[in-house]
Amino acid sequence: MNTANTAQDATARAAAWATLRAMARPSLADLFAADAGRPAQLTRRIAWPDASGSLPEAGMLIDFSKTHLSDDALAAFEALADAAGFAAAREALFSGGIVNPTEGRAATHGALRGSGTPAQVEEAEALLARMGMLVEAIHEGALGEIRHCIAIGIGGSALGPALAIDALTREGALVDVHVVSNIDGLALEAAFRACDPQTTLIAVASKTFTTTETMTNAASALAWLEDSGVEDPGGRVVALTAAPEKAVEWGVDETRVLPFIDSVGGRYSLFSSIGFPVALATGMEAFRAMLAGAKAVDDHFRHENARANAPLLAAFCDQYYTRLHGCQTRAVFAYDERLALLPDYLQQLEMESNGKSVTVDGAPVDGPTAAVTWGGVGTDAQHAVFQLLHQGTHLIPVDFIVAIEPGDTLDPAHHRILLMNCLAQGAALMAGKPSDDPARAYPGDRPSTTFLLDDCDAAALGALIAFHEHRTFANAVLMGINPFDQFGVELGKAIAKQIESGEGEFDPSTTALMAAAGLG
Ligand code: F6P
Repeated sequence: MNTANTAQDATARAAAWATLRAMARPSLADLFAADAGRPAQLTRRIAWPDASGSLPEAGMLIDFSKTHLSDDALAAFEALADAAGFAAAREALFSGGIVNPTEGRAATHGALRGSGTPAQVEEAEALLARMGMLVEAIHEGALGEIRHCIAIGIGGSALGPALAIDALTREGALVDVHVVSNIDGLALEAAFRACDPQTTLIAVASKTFTTTETMTNAASALAWLEDSGVEDPGGRVVALTAAPEKAVEWGVDETRVLPFIDSVGGRYSLFSSIGFPVALATGMEAFRAMLAGAKAVDDHFRHENARANAPLLAAFCDQYYTRLHGCQTRAVFAYDERLALLPDYLQQLEMESNGKSVTVDGAPVDGPTAAVTWGGVGTDAQHAVFQLLHQGTHLIPVDFIVAIEPGDTLDPAHHRILLMNCLAQGAALMAGKPSDDPARAYPGDRPSTTFLLDDCDAAALGALIAFHEHRTFANAVLMGINPFDQFGVELGKAIAKQIESGEGEFDPSTTALMAAAGLG
């Protein structure tokens, strides 16, 4: 590493932050008063070919106009992106450069949908074809009649599949998939109750094939098949992993091991073989549509300049609120039942990636890093947590996500009310409402970004996921941190092992709790 350049970069970055910190925050009302064309200026559209053929293209609008980004702030953020080496970092991401220096690895999730070096893309396509063949063989009965699948994994090996299956199988699934992550046996027992062992496949998803929860659940699921008298229980297990040799060692036949590449991070792995349960439930066509939506966002993120680049603009907003205005959380509300699990998914993506305290050089960061991501579905959340958004003391930037096309077939009134409420909340947060009665006054000037999807289908889901992957990466580059490691999860795992083995010294509180819990 060139130390002189690094010092120079750090100085340029510090100067860009100093400019941003010196800026006053204009009110949203003033920003709109100064420029009525603000919505057009600050709305971006990302489109992809429409699979149904009813439109030449489908896509999503992202309206940033209800955030406090002014022209001056945008210019300063562009300068920050330059100082942070954003363009070079982005190119490194897509061209297999070492963007995860603490682990000496590239991050090649883009290659899974065709955005990477030719060699990476070719390898990913071959693995996808292998997965597709197994999915189709299972659908055609190669493993006997398969009506259910218990998909076992945790973190990045469960959250993406759970989200996608929940989102894309509202009208039924080719195979009924239950994603089980928790070591709490209640989770696996619930899946056992919902499945007939004679027609159930077990999919074990683990990048490392060593994770305690997953391996324990996998062993129990295999025992359940055995105890239920299934003829060849081992023949009903499929492994999804970047450590195929470990899966084989564990007892999975090589023909049912679907590998993926080690440089795909766990929380970035939905489009790899970790997505096998999604493909099993929805079919390969839907899975490929998800990939196509993600690819459209890859292309947009890779090629658009800063002002046009929606994931980068979203990162500017994140930095604006978290770093410059002390917002410790950001909220995401999908006005769509199909996206109920999106906040869970985004929590891991954003908090495990950017919940860091040091820069890539190991220096302490000079400001807060990832906000706490939280959220829910509208309109439910309006009747539960929106009070605080409107009148609480916290400033919380909100993302709203809603589709123009309804997902249901009931009276169109349902979807109209849903859409209207979504738009009304953004308007209300921004406008506020004065009142002589302080308890009834709304301060307003509260920011939101609206994602308006043409339809909430497989392609849109893929696009939303890729959007947030790139938003997360862009945030990391602006802060100078590595989003692709997660050493913070290791200490607790190590101490759990010490408790299990009874070795090691524990603090008095933990020692007392261990004794009380019968773990002493
Ligand atoms: O403990 C955190 C973590 O390593 C996540 O990053 C990962 O997604 C999850 O555990 C599961 O890991 P694996 O896929 O190796 O079982």
